[in-house]
Amino acid sequence: MSNTPTPHNNAKKGDIADTVLLPGDPLRAKFIAETFLEDVVQYNTVRGMFGYTGYYKGRKISVQGSGMGMPSIGIYSYELIHFYGVKNLVRIGSAGAINENLKLHDVVIGMGACTDSNFAYQYNLPGTFAPIASYELMQNAINVAHEQGTKVNVGNILSADVFYSDAGLDNLAKWKKMGVLCVEMEAAALYMNAARAGVNALCILTISDCPFTGEETTSHDRQVAFTKMMEIALELA
Ligand code: ADE
Repeated sequence: MSNTPTPHNNAKKGDIADTVLLPGDPLRAKFIAETFLEDVVQYNTVRGMFGYTGYYKGRKISVQGSGMGMPSIGIYSYELIHFYGVKNLVRIGSAGAINENLKLHDVVIGMGACTDSNFAYQYNLPGTFAPIASYELMQNAINVAHEQGTKVNVGNILSADVFYSDAGLDNLAKWKKMGVLCVEMEAAALYMNAARAGVNALCILTISDCPFTGEETTSHDRQVAFTKMMEIALELA
């Protein structure tokens, strides 16, 4: 393993658990640590991208902000895997509905993550890579959701490089034809970093907006709705 601290994380080796939850928003990492974890230690403040380690039901777990977009989660997840030895990375985030049956606050598990990004270019593959979730983490998350009485929608998601697209809704309509459930901006990079390193990754999402109808959650509603997703993810430690 490479040297720590890293340019983006001032944690020392051993400060971070084997399982890390990755919300995009560092303040959500703070909220999760303060609300759900015991014996919490904050290990990172660099760039305000807070990271915490604590215990959930006696099991060690970390929560680390990932930032927005594939370059950002690409950096944090790479360092967690290669510099800190993290084995299970679970993104918890928000997404825009593409499938018309998805409503605000529904929970989605990304079995696969399509992307319009060029992240896979670095691997120089002779074809197109299909970024997928860890089967084991996904099955565990589905089982936990059933036990908790939370309905989860499992399928393909889109990790987009652009939030405000010049193409308007045209591109989303094309992904919709392929059965893609929702759009976010990080999972494909996380799945690729994990695949390349032979570790486990999963993306659990809560629908925060419906681009085709213009509906969106208020920040208060979002906080409450996100709790269901967090409670699934926390059980994966
Ligand atoms: N995350 C939440 N809503 C999104 C959207 N509409 N597009 C991309 N990422 C999102």
